Amino acid sequence: MTLSEDGSFTAYSKEYGEHYHSTKDGALHESLVKHVIPALTVQKDKDELDILDICFGLGFNTLATIYYVKQNHINTRVNIYSPELDADLLNSLVNFTYPKEFESIKHIISEIVENSFYSDEQFHIEVFLGDAREYILKFGGMKFDIVYQDAFSPSSNPMLWTKEYFADIKRIMKEDAVLTTYSIALATRLALYENDFNIYINSGEDYRDATLASPSKLDGFKVVDMIHKISCNPDVKSLRD
Ligand SMILES: C[S@@+](CC[C@H](N)C(=O)[O-])C[C@H]1O[C@@H](n2cnc3c(N)ncnc32)[C@H](O)[C@@H]1O
Repeated sequence: MTLSEDGSFTAYSKEYGEHYHSTKDGALHESLVKHVIPALTVQKDKDELDILDICFGLGFNTLATIYYVKQNHINTRVNIYSPELDADLLNSLVNFTYPKEFESIKHIISEIVENSFYSDEQFHIEVFLGDAREYILKFGGMKFDIVYQDAFSPSSNPMLWTKEYFADIKRIMKEDAVLTTYSIALATRLALYENDFNIYINSGEDYRDATLASPSKLDGFKVVDMIHKISCNPDVKSLRD
């Protein structure tokens, strides 16, 4: 475990050579400001939300969603679907030191580790043990309101950042859905843009910039001028399968 700047612990993956969260922005803080808060702000008027959490990892994005919804007395029903390849990681989570903010919802992690599933009157969580690329093809007609795109970086886990991957993701997003990601790489934004996403900057005083993307226009966020960016970087290419 590694202590991050906001006092919450994250972990380091030897396999990918990266931490699970930005140690500078802080694990819980990053999850809230780069994913949960912007996504729930965009979707604040809905009675029910279907969220795709790519990938479960230490479960911060799922748990921070539940924490934020409860903390702010939001009545929305929340369904979260999350793939994770690493079974050993999932099994280890019962011993992970989560931030005190998660104290009252820690039982949810125990149930997820045991059953890959948690359900109560407001929250429904399903974790799929396996490859996210296969998982996103399974949804048939179901479409999501929110996608948390939180894989390891494009350089260490390229298969979850390609143009074709984002095409599959877009196919299972509603027209007014929002995708959140910490990546501000032009190649990532280009892979989204090539799939006709609108691209926005998610910025704030106490964290590094991040990206929001949506098939629709989003109010209240600064647009990334992709035509200008591409003209300044004519050799930029999106990742491909
Ligand atoms: C940056 S971490 C996710 C952090 C997580 N969102 C959290 O809040 O703790 C990336 C995760 O993706 C998982 N992963 C890598 N490749 C995958 C794949 N093809 N399918 C599913 N999970 C994958 C890794 O095992 C790792 O747990």
